[in-house]
Amino acid sequence: MNAATEANNNTPIETLFDPSSEAYLRDPIPQCLALASRGPLVWYAPWQAWIMTRMPDIMDCWRREYLSSDFYDWEFAPPRPPEDQWSNFERAMIGHSLLADHDHHRLIRKVVSPAFSRNVVDEIQRRIKPDVEKLFDELGDVERFDYIEKIASRIPFISISRMVGVPERYWPEIERVVLTFTETWNPTISDERREAARQDSNRAIEILQRVIAERRANPGEDDDFLSVLLKIEAENDKFSEWDIVTLILALIGAGADTTLVAQQWSVYSLLKHPGQVATALASPDAFSNAFSEIMRWSTQSKMGFARYAPEDMELLGQQIRKGQMVLLMPHLKDRDPAYYSEPERFDVQREFNPDVLFGYGPRYCIGAALAKRQLYLTMCELFRRFPKLELDGEPERDGSDHNAVVFRELWVKTNA
Ligand code: HEM
Repeated sequence: MNAATEANNNTPIETLFDPSSEAYLRDPIPQCLALASRGPLVWYAPWQAWIMTRMPDIMDCWRREYLSSDFYDWEFAPPRPPEDQWSNFERAMIGHSLLADHDHHRLIRKVVSPAFSRNVVDEIQRRIKPDVEKLFDELGDVERFDYIEKIASRIPFISISRMVGVPERYWPEIERVVLTFTETWNPTISDERREAARQDSNRAIEILQRVIAERRANPGEDDDFLSVLLKIEAENDKFSEWDIVTLILALIGAGADTTLVAQQWSVYSLLKHPGQVATALASPDAFSNAFSEIMRWSTQSKMGFARYAPEDMELLGQQIRKGQMVLLMPHLKDRDPAYYSEPERFDVQREFNPDVLFGYGPRYCIGAALAKRQLYLTMCELFRRFPKLELDGEPERDGSDHNAVVFRELWVKTNA
């Protein structure tokens, strides 16, 4: 061990790795590498959590699911209130849909997966294309615009709501309260912020219940996702209205949050490498690979994915206690030269084997195909309308997002 490595290893990890710091915002890579070099499972005192740093271990954990994904298994989670005091939020979160025990989770995945398979993605594209075009039409022939305000912040919510079948008249009301849903189980933010998100989710649930009641009263001809879920409910004793509510919340919450971040970094990375735009957008498959490279190169995640120890156990040489949080951080590998050759080089044709951007195993992202198609559609529309698009200066980074490094604004020049 050389002197520099030894000094590094003696420094408390929280002084080398801090995703809330200005240094992380500017350049997370040295911090990610410093954390990864500490070993396979690192105790991180500020979050009272273990961090799993290496891909083979993370994939094994994803695959075998020996840790819990249920936020209520966390040692610091608010206690589960007795059932007669549950608000809608507890009714949705406890025991339902994707948050339930393994058997129920598997059942839900099995019944809803066909609604997300690649062959329904074409239909989804047909549904959301007019919405994307309308946003660009409203923008008109401008010289410069903030991509986040005008496009990125609008697309994810619109496309998932359209796909689910939430009527447009509910959009303004539900959009205000649904986008914080994933914050309700983010263990790295304050109790107050989580509680505010929980209140928002309660309001979002009320709106969804109204939407479902209306659809039951007037089924109509629509073959959107809500009508598929209502059919599944009618045919399966173990699938209830709460499963529908929780699933829609998870879809809008998980789907909007992630793709908002992805929209920004896609535009930024492609504009930083204009010579690769045509290759990236050559086809949906080409973009699928390019998108993995975009997300690798941008390395914007702060927290990774939370799991909780279901019992006292030994894990990767460490003794961990029941209820302790374990964060899986696959993004630590993204700029690691031991994992990728020339990791600083952006190459939309880089090979990913395996490609773990959307997870792996039983909890593999349910919206992966939708996310990629929605981004592909938007990027194609953007570069078709503005082939000479450029960044209008280096955008300022924003640390306020609960889980990712994003941009405050993303101004682009159209050169039209
Ligand atoms: C850039 C886009 C996206 C990325 C990178 C992404 C990534 C991921 C990853 C890595 C997981 C596994 C999490 C874990 O192991 O804890 C996951 C799960 C999930 N994603 Fe995505 N996702 C994206 C977009 C979406 C979209 C658009 C939707 C919905 C329409 C969605 C819905 C979900 C849901 C519901 C789960 C939980 C699945 C389960 O527990 O069975 N995601 N996503």
